[in-house]
Amino acid sequence: MNRATFTRFDHSRAEDWLVIDAHYQTYQNGVAERVLSHLLNIRGDHHGYPVDRYTHSLQTATRALRADADEETVVCALLHDIGDDLAPANHAEIAAAILEPYIDPLNAWMIRHHELFQGYHYRHFYGLDPHARDRYRDHPAYARTVRFCDEWDQRSFDPHYDTLPLEHFRPMVARLFARQPLDAMPSVASASSPDKERS
Ligand SMILES: [Fe+2]
Repeated sequence: MNRATFTRFDHSRAEDWLVIDAHYQTYQNGVAERVLSHLLNIRGDHHGYPVDRYTHSLQTATRALRADADEETVVCALLHDIGDDLAPANHAEIAAAILEPYIDPLNAWMIRHHELFQGYHYRHFYGLDPHARDRYRDHPAYARTVRFCDEWDQRSFDPHYDTLPLEHFRPMVARLFARQPLDAMPSVASASSPDKERS
C-alpha cells in the first residue's frame, strides 16, 4: 500500500489522508490480535502470587463465563490486568482505556475501579481501609464491580482450577474489537471538504 507524500501535516492534502485512512482501517482490524499478543507479555509474571498474571486473567474470564456473564463482561475479565507489565502503579487505567471505546461505560468504570474494589479483601494488610469502595455505593456500576471482584477476580489465583485456554476466548475478543469504536474518526472519503461546503 502506498504512502502519504507530506513531511508535515500543514502541507498535507486530502489524497494523503485517503491513503492514511485506508491503512488505519487495516490497522484497526488487527487490534484484537495485538491485544491478545500483549496478554502473552504477562505470562510468567507471578510477582509472588500463586499463579502468573496470564493464568489469573484466563481464570478470571473462565469464572465469569461459567457464571453465565455476558460476552462483553467475559472479555473485560480476560483483559482487566493487561496493563500490569507497563503500568503496575495504575494498570487498571490501561485496560479501561483499551476497552472503553468498545464497551458499556459501566463496564469501563468497573475495570477502572477494580483495584480499589478488590482491595476489600487485602487493603487491611497494608493498613488501609478495606471499605474504601463504599464511597461508590450509590454508583450504578457498584454492584457489578463488587461481583466482578468478589466472585471472579479475587478468587482466581488457584493453580489447580480448571482454567480454560486463551483459544477459548479468542473469538470473543475478535467480536468485541470488531465493534465500531466510540468517537472513531469519520472516513476521509465520506467527509465534505471545506471547498465543497463553500460551494
Ligand atoms: Fe485481577
